[in-house]
Amino acid sequence: MNDSWTRLEHHHAAVADRPILSLFSNPQRFQAFSAETGGLLLDFSKTNLDEEILQDLIALAEESGVPDKRDAMFRGARSNATEGRAVLHTALRSQDTGALAAGGEDVRPGIKAARDRMERFAEGIRTGTITAPGGRAFTDVVNIGIGGSDLGPLMAVRALAPYHSGPRCHFVSNADGAQISDTLALLDPGTTLFIIASKTFTTVETMTNARTAVRWLEEAVGGDAAGHLAAVSSAPARAAGFGIAEDRVFGFADWVGGRYSLWGPVGLPIMIATGAERFREFLAGGCQMDQHFRAAPLRQNLPVLMALTGIWHSNICGYATRAVLPYDQRLDRLPAYLQQLDMESNGKRVTSCGAPLQRASGPVVWGEPGTNGQHAFYQLLHQGTQIVPAEFLIAAESHEPHLKEHHDLLKANCLAQSEALMRGRTLEAARKLAQGAEDAAVSQDCLARHRTFPGNRPSVTLAYTRLTPFVLGQLIAFYEHRVFVEGVIWGINSFDQWGVELGKELAGSLLPMVQGAPADGKDGSTRGLLARLSG
Ligand code: F6P
Repeated sequence: MNDSWTRLEHHHAAVADRPILSLFSNPQRFQAFSAETGGLLLDFSKTNLDEEILQDLIALAEESGVPDKRDAMFRGARSNATEGRAVLHTALRSQDTGALAAGGEDVRPGIKAARDRMERFAEGIRTGTITAPGGRAFTDVVNIGIGGSDLGPLMAVRALAPYHSGPRCHFVSNADGAQISDTLALLDPGTTLFIIASKTFTTVETMTNARTAVRWLEEAVGGDAAGHLAAVSSAPARAAGFGIAEDRVFGFADWVGGRYSLWGPVGLPIMIATGAERFREFLAGGCQMDQHFRAAPLRQNLPVLMALTGIWHSNICGYATRAVLPYDQRLDRLPAYLQQLDMESNGKRVTSCGAPLQRASGPVVWGEPGTNGQHAFYQLLHQGTQIVPAEFLIAAESHEPHLKEHHDLLKANCLAQSEALMRGRTLEAARKLAQGAEDAAVSQDCLARHRTFPGNRPSVTLAYTRLTPFVLGQLIAFYEHRVFVEGVIWGINSFDQWGVELGKELAGSLLPMVQGAPADGKDGSTRGLLARLSG
């Protein structure tokens, strides 16, 4: 067993009951246990980390090869070994101009050419120089994709609502026909553009939705349907085979993983909604975080500190989940986006070499925006028997200066929650509150026990000035690198996703059975359910 792991476990035994609040007897606690880059602040002082523990976590990162593996990834090494691919989504947002090779080829010229094409197309749609076949400007854009071809652009388009200045953007992902049906009901086929986004251009949900969209178009505009289609894919020949005009297919390389793909052509809806200029600001934010991640010492490195906090909580403290709690309504899809980024990357059970993991890998990631979550699941965060490390996000300023009262309330609530989780309320304090309570059908002592909060529940807070395209880029790159560092420490390949295959294969074999074929070879439950669902 690695020495740092052993030391961390010893630390845990020693500090498990230490109140986090007691660490603030050091007046410098906040300064020492927060870090900032490019206006983004990470406060991890409301955790039970102290300097000695943090140094051992940093030693763990170094022993695990985080700096070398980070540098190798940025250099274009085949960090995704099981798929034999480089991992170079960072190149899509890089401002470097020097050659960068993947598979023996400099990738920079292709990235620039692809972005230039994207920009021409997006600006053409936005300004009306590219129109629908009938000559009318496109009023609506529907992105048809799923997973990484949906969650990133969907999350970002919602996050950047104050910057929208183009056609309305819609997203259809689910195999459930309800989604495309409800979406189409809102639209005029004569002014709607569909972007079929699929890295592989084989994903069954996307292909099914795309066929439905084409049928809908054909019924309305007949032979002009192709003029309402564009595609984003790393399999351009398949997109062309589907009937998409060659100049409407936006390709990207296989060294961009699906869940890391919103920085390139998969981000087309973001560019159409907000414009090329804003998209460049978004890329600049991601690039700023890359530069920080590559250059900052580990002790000041935001993604590394976030990852180490995560390792401490999941592996050493044994907390099985973590909650992402944006106090920023426009980040309402961030938790879903991070679920794919984190759980598809690090939900693994063998090392890169195929050996069974000796420790837990990625925790369950979940969450909802505050303050809504406060009125739903925060009860469990405060008084449940499980400890859930919380990750708060909050802006100093909103995009609605005329609604300052709202934003002040939002900030107060965000800070109140992290304070309440840490501070808790003692039984003694609860007894005072319970004194004189006449209504309860239980004793005052019983009531006081219900009103006690154990506290000592950790959280981190990310604070930024305002949710701009630049900040959004920083945030996403920050989380990408956090996931990367954790994956390196666990010794896993964070860039493949074999775990999604089995369900896809079985769905393929079940489809004919759903349509009436005999359910040979299936278990009793599946047979019973097939019978119940027939019709
Ligand atoms: O099923 C998982 C997955 O492969 C994701 O990794 C990916 O983002 C998603 O499906 C969509 O894939 P594609 O872009 O190839 O349609």
